[in-house]
Amino acid sequence: MTAGEAALAVSGLTLGLASGHARQPLVEDLSFRIGRGEMLAFVGESGSGKSLTAAAIFGLLPPGIRRMAGAIRVGGTELTALPERALRARRGRDMGLVFQNPLTALSPSLGVQAQIVETYRVHKGGTREAARGRARALLTEVGLSALAAGPDRYPHQLSGGMRQRVMIALALACDPGLLIADEPTTALDTLIQVQIMDLLTRLQRERGLAVLFITHDLRLAARYADRILVLYAGRAVEEGDAASFFIAPRHPYSRALRDAIPPVPADGRRLAEIPGQPPGPQTRIEGCRFAPRCPDVRDDCRRVVPTMGPLGVRVACLHPGAPAP
Ligand SMILES: Nc1ncnc2c1ncn2[C@@H]1O[C@H](COP(=O)(O)OP(=O)(O)OP(=O)(O)O)[C@@H](O)[C@H]1O
Ligand SMILES: [Mg+2]
Repeated sequence: MTAGEAALAVSGLTLGLASGHARQPLVEDLSFRIGRGEMLAFVGESGSGKSLTAAAIFGLLPPGIRRMAGAIRVGGTELTALPERALRARRGRDMGLVFQNPLTALSPSLGVQAQIVETYRVHKGGTREAARGRARALLTEVGLSALAAGPDRYPHQLSGGMRQRVMIALALACDPGLLIADEPTTALDTLIQVQIMDLLTRLQRERGLAVLFITHDLRLAARYADRILVLYAGRAVEEGDAASFFIAPRHPYSRALRDAIPPVPADGRRLAEIPGQPPGPQTRIEGCRFAPRCPDVRDDCRRVVPTMGPLGVRVACLHPGAPAP
């Protein structure tokens, strides 16, 4: 990676059903970058394409979904040009993935330390003893020093928060430059949620990690991320610096998301309802995809597709609100 190069650069990413029945792509013309040591949060309602984008970056799209266009550069390497074997070698080495339920990622029949040792050796080789030392150092780094020093434990012997810490250690086993965390705290209590987010931001800072943080929770995004990118029905509608975004979101959808936050988190998990539903992939919409729900809709919104402006003017709306002062 050369100086000034983003740890992750996605441009024009378009994903759709391989069978081609859907009229709308599931993710359309999505572009964004994350620098070293930076956290970008993806925010958007269920079905907006957050996880599919993560899966595309990781090279693990579900069967039936295809990348129709777009480039994905990680650490300066264009991944979409790599053959499957080379991609598999890079996955897990250049990128780490953390998701909502660590139990689906951890093997139930192997101790967690042993799992980190295995992962490390698959990618980096070396002796078992060296890998063990690495596993212990990683467990300590994620705040599990007792587990690092004591006998190995199975995932079911650990609390939800500890399991998520193990999953983060596993994701970091090969020293990736990029970490993708898809709803990493959604299944956890509010207190544990904060601890895990604090851990992620500490790692981001100390390791210079680029983090893509996917969440429903705009409040968490505003508190922890450097920048926020809002997705609506597979399209980016606004991107901005987290602090000013929260003060003055410019897209009517971003404003609705912000205004839908209850004063006290009801359960800390889901965004409160915005009237109406996002359009499904089968629905063809002329003009802006948010127009049918938009409180500020005008005639041209139903004809013209708004696009993100050039860098610096990142809002896809024909009539955006004023920027933060
Ligand atoms: N395997 C699949 N086959 C067909 N359609 C899919 C598949 N996975 C996702 N989709 C569709 O792609 C769109 C985006 O899904 P995605 O999982 O990326 O949403 P998301 O933003 O992560 O939502 P959530 O917040 O619920 O996790 C949705 O319309 C979804 O129905
Ligand atoms: Mg998802």
